[in-house]
Amino acid sequence: MAAAKRVLITGASGLLGRALCKEFGKNVMWETCGLSFSRSGDGLTQIDIRDKDALTQVIKDFKPSVIIHSAAERKPDVVEKQPETTYKLNVEATSNLCDIAGSVGAWVLYISTDYVFDGKNPPYKETAQPNPLNKYGQSKLDGEIATLEASQDNGVLRVPILYGEVENLSESAVTVLFDKVKDTTQHCIMSDYERRYPTYCGDIAFVIKQLAEKRIKGEKIGGIYHWSGNENMTKYDMAVAMAKAFGLPIEHIVADKSPSGGASRPYDAHLDCGRIESLGIVKRTAFNELIKDILQPHY
Ligand SMILES: NC(=O)c1ccc[n+]([C@@H]2O[C@H](COP(=O)([O-])OP(=O)(O)OC[C@H]3O[C@@H](n4cnc5c(N)ncnc54)[C@H](OP(=O)(O)O)[C@@H]3O)[C@@H](O)[C@H]2O)c1
Repeated sequence: MAAAKRVLITGASGLLGRALCKEFGKNVMWETCGLSFSRSGDGLTQIDIRDKDALTQVIKDFKPSVIIHSAAERKPDVVEKQPETTYKLNVEATSNLCDIAGSVGAWVLYISTDYVFDGKNPPYKETAQPNPLNKYGQSKLDGEIATLEASQDNGVLRVPILYGEVENLSESAVTVLFDKVKDTTQHCIMSDYERRYPTYCGDIAFVIKQLAEKRIKGEKIGGIYHWSGNENMTKYDMAVAMAKAFGLPIEHIVADKSPSGGASRPYDAHLDCGRIESLGIVKRTAFNELIKDILQPHY
C-alpha cells in the first residue's frame, strides 16, 4: 500500500513547500519526495524543473501517486520585469510536469493564487471568471489552464497571501512588514488600501493533505478549489497586530490609503472556499494566535 501513497512536492524548499513536507511527514503512510532548486536541504532533491529530461527522470524514478506543484516565481514585481523567464517556470514547466504525471498515472494539484482575479467583485467562487491585473496573475492562470488541459481530473488550489515559519522575514509578504514595525525609531508607511486575507501555510498544508487523502481513497477530487483565512486585513492592520503582539508602540506606523505602487494588484480578491468546506475540510488559524511565535526568532 505504501506505493499508493507517494507524494512529490515541487518547491519543497519554499514557504509553503516546507509546510507541506512537514504535514505529509506527520503520517508514515506518506512517502515524500521534495524538490528544490537553489537550496539544498535534508532529503531534498535539487533540480531545475524547467529541464524536462531531469523532471521526467525524477518522476519516473519516484513514481508518485500525488504531485503537489508549489514551485513558482511568485513575486509580482519580479514577474513584471522577467515575464519570459517566469513563463518558462510558471507555465511551461507546469505543462511538462502534468504531461509526465499523466504518463505515470499521478494526480497533480497545482498551487495558484487569488491574483487570478481583478478584486473588483468579491467574494470569488471557484467558478468565477478570472481577470488577472498583472503578469504574475496571468502566468498563474496560464499554469492553471495547462494543468486542467492535461487532465480535467487534476486539481488547482488558489490561495491568498501566505505567512508561516520563515527562514528570513523577506520570505513572506506578511512577515517582511515586521522589519519596519520593529524599528520604532523610523516612520513606516503601510498600505491601508488593498484588502488581504493572510493565511497560515500550515493550514493550507493540512487542507492539501486532506484533499490528497480523499483522492487516494477514490473520491472525485478535481478542478478548481479555493482556500483562505477569513480575516480581512490591510498590510497596515497586519503591521499594527504585529506591533501589539510584541507590546511595541504603533505611532510610527503610518496608514497609506492609496493603491500600492509597482505591478497592479487586486483590491479585494476574497476567495469563497465553499467547495472545500462542503467536503468537511476546515482549518483556519487566527492571525493573532501564531504571529508572535512566527516572528519571535527574527525579533
Ligand atoms: N507566498 C504567497 O503569498 C503566495 C500567495 C498566493 C499563491 N502562492 C503560490 O503558492 C506557491 C508557493 O509559494 P511560496 O511562497 O512557497 O514560494 P517560495 O517560498 O518563493 O518558493 C518557491 C519555490 O520554487 C522553487 N523553484 C524556483 N525556481 C525553480 C526551478 N527553476 N526549478 C525548481 N524549483 C524552483 C524554489 O526553490 P529554491 O528556493 O530551492 O530555489 C522554492 O522552493 C506558488 O505557486 C505561489 O504562486 C503564494
